[in-house]
Amino acid sequence: MNDEHEIMTFLREVRHPGKQDRDIVDLGMVHGVEFSADKVTVTLAFPKRRDPLSEYLIGSTRAALIRHLPSNVKSEVKTIVVDEVTPKKKPLDLDLEEIGNIRHIIGIASGKGGVGKSTVAVNLACALARMGFKVGLADADVYGPSIPTMTNTENEAISAEKDGDRELIIPLEKYGVKWMSVGYFAQKGQALIWRGPMACNALKQMILQVRWGELDFLLIDMPPGTGDIHISLVQDIPVEGAIIVTTPQAVALSDVEKGVDMFRNPNVNKTIFGIVENMAWFTPEAHPDEKYYIFGKDGGRNMADELGIELLAQIPLVQGIRESGDSGEPSALGNRPDSLAFLELAGKIAAIFK
Ligand SMILES: Nc1ncnc2c1ncn2[C@@H]1O[C@H](COP(=O)(O)OP(=O)(O)O)[C@@H](O)[C@H]1O
Ligand SMILES: [Mg+2]
Repeated sequence: MNDEHEIMTFLREVRHPGKQDRDIVDLGMVHGVEFSADKVTVTLAFPKRRDPLSEYLIGSTRAALIRHLPSNVKSEVKTIVVDEVTPKKKPLDLDLEEIGNIRHIIGIASGKGGVGKSTVAVNLACALARMGFKVGLADADVYGPSIPTMTNTENEAISAEKDGDRELIIPLEKYGVKWMSVGYFAQKGQALIWRGPMACNALKQMILQVRWGELDFLLIDMPPGTGDIHISLVQDIPVEGAIIVTTPQAVALSDVEKGVDMFRNPNVNKTIFGIVENMAWFTPEAHPDEKYYIFGKDGGRNMADELGIELLAQIPLVQGIRESGDSGEPSALGNRPDSLAFLELAGKIAAIFK
């Protein structure tokens, strides 16, 4: 049954009210987890000095197991006494100093790739900057960093500066936005193959050890998918919440729902500010008044209604948006109808935080 990671995840729901409500995994109280097809045994470690809440914690752990395990799987909670319970150290002591002057950190996410997440992120960043906000964008898409292309900054050299014994990366500045991307650290055309916790920490440092300075908004272009890397990213970086991007198409929507679930998962528990339905309809350049619903009509709107999330914008599929992405001059800098759609979106985001 299950894997240890999954069991650990729900054991984190057990919190110690005598220790600032920290969870038993972080507190180092989970001594061991054994599991077979039909039984899970969790051993909790208690210090020699009596913990008045030990019965409470054992009972809560039992309840968490019953709550999450299928009914045909038995569970048992054992205890051992140890000299000292040592709280788990974070795998990496993340330095949050450089993001201390950022007012709102917002993830731009989607369970799925290719829906226009980066397009929305770049244009929203430019539109917020156009409104006069101080904006940064961190491209955390390890699988397909596209910010360098979308802003035509691929050939810029990244520099770093010493700050005491730390090294801080200087973000690139263009269109009034500060940009940082994993793409700047890869050779052109070279795929980034990053796996496991090392990659995850490198990614976090790439966001945290950047001289962002004072910002109103830092947008994070999240990698597609909903795996460990995403959960750890939103847990360790103080992301305030997310904007979810989808297309109206049903297949995109089901993946996107997984993305929504990830943010609503009790261990993550971040606000979803709204949904952006991208490629909501196709409008040919020569016929600006026509709308063709080639991916279906209102898929994003309906999903927003069902999930009780605000629909922030419907962005049309137009040639200009694709071209501006390729040329590195974001649509939101212009005054075309598609530019205005991004400015309208930025207006709504700004209104959420006013
Ligand atoms: N509304 C749109 N109209 C036209 N092309 C778009 C639109 N949104 C995205 N694209 C294009 O679709 C491709 C994928 O978009 P991208 O933002 O890279 O997706 P993701 O970041 O979700 O993988 C890009 O070539 C982009 O220019
Ligand atoms: Mg992308």
